[in-house]
Amino acid sequence: MNNMVIVSGATKGLGLAISKQLVAKGYLVVGVSRTNSDEYKELMSSHSDSVFFHSFDFSNTEKISALVKKIVNTYGRPYALINNAALGHDGVLATMHEKDIHELIKVNVEAPILLAKYASRSMLLNKIGRIVNVGSIIGSTGFNGLSVYGATKSALAGFTKSLSRELGKVNITVNTLAPGYMETNMTQGLQGDKLASITRRSPLGRLANVDDAAQATIFLLSDGAGSITGTTITVDAGSTA
Ligand SMILES: NC(=O)c1ccc[n+]([C@@H]2O[C@H](COP(=O)([O-])OP(=O)(O)OC[C@H]3O[C@@H](n4cnc5c(N)ncnc54)[C@H](OP(=O)(O)O)[C@@H]3O)[C@@H](O)[C@H]2O)c1
Repeated sequence: MNNMVIVSGATKGLGLAISKQLVAKGYLVVGVSRTNSDEYKELMSSHSDSVFFHSFDFSNTEKISALVKKIVNTYGRPYALINNAALGHDGVLATMHEKDIHELIKVNVEAPILLAKYASRSMLLNKIGRIVNVGSIIGSTGFNGLSVYGATKSALAGFTKSLSRELGKVNITVNTLAPGYMETNMTQGLQGDKLASITRRSPLGRLANVDDAAQATIFLLSDGAGSITGTTITVDAGSTA
């Protein structure tokens, strides 16, 4: 069986943590983002036969079909797709630039849908596959200043549900991973009192980190998760309990 996994946004934060754990489990990782990072380059050089990188900007949605074709031609049909890349633009809706609104919808919703469209064609031929759409607890809870981001994340959760119904008959599972707040580049603006209050509200008295969320992703790709589809796995140290 092909063990290739496409990870969007593999170079930083959660995508990087997922890529590291995937390689440790013996998967072949094809990471995609706009620019490579030192950490991902290090992973590539220590696993030169199982970690690869393609530079691509997901706002170029019209080129996603060609990107997936190139990946399949080079590495074979994917076993799994991790739709992780996203933008985290925040701002009060009334003053948010339209350009930012359009970009959020393109990168966070349109791109993962198109990636799933083209990657699932190969999975259909394999008669097995896994798709993990990275959502967020903000998609169901809401957060001041994240209305558009929140809309994109609940859109993905809705996409997961219907797509799981479509692909279940060919043994492809589709799930949403909904992390809570994790310290990454995306959240570096949130510090001080706000961060302390998010942490205090968690029953575990701490935040989940990217390694915690990556472990849940690895589980969704495992044989043991073969009967889990169309659902959301929340990794938020209990913040939404
Ligand atoms: N951090 C949190 O607290 C949190 C909470 C819940 C959910 N999430 C979700 O977790 C996922 C990962 O977030 P993160 O915190 O790890 O963010 P991050 O550190 O900002 O990493 C985002 C990744 O996506 C890539 N990316 C962003 N825009 C792209 C574009 N237009 N084209 C190609 N690649 C692009 C980035 O690489 P380049 O910049 O090189 O393109 C990077 O590899 C996202 O879906 C996010 O919504 C995060």
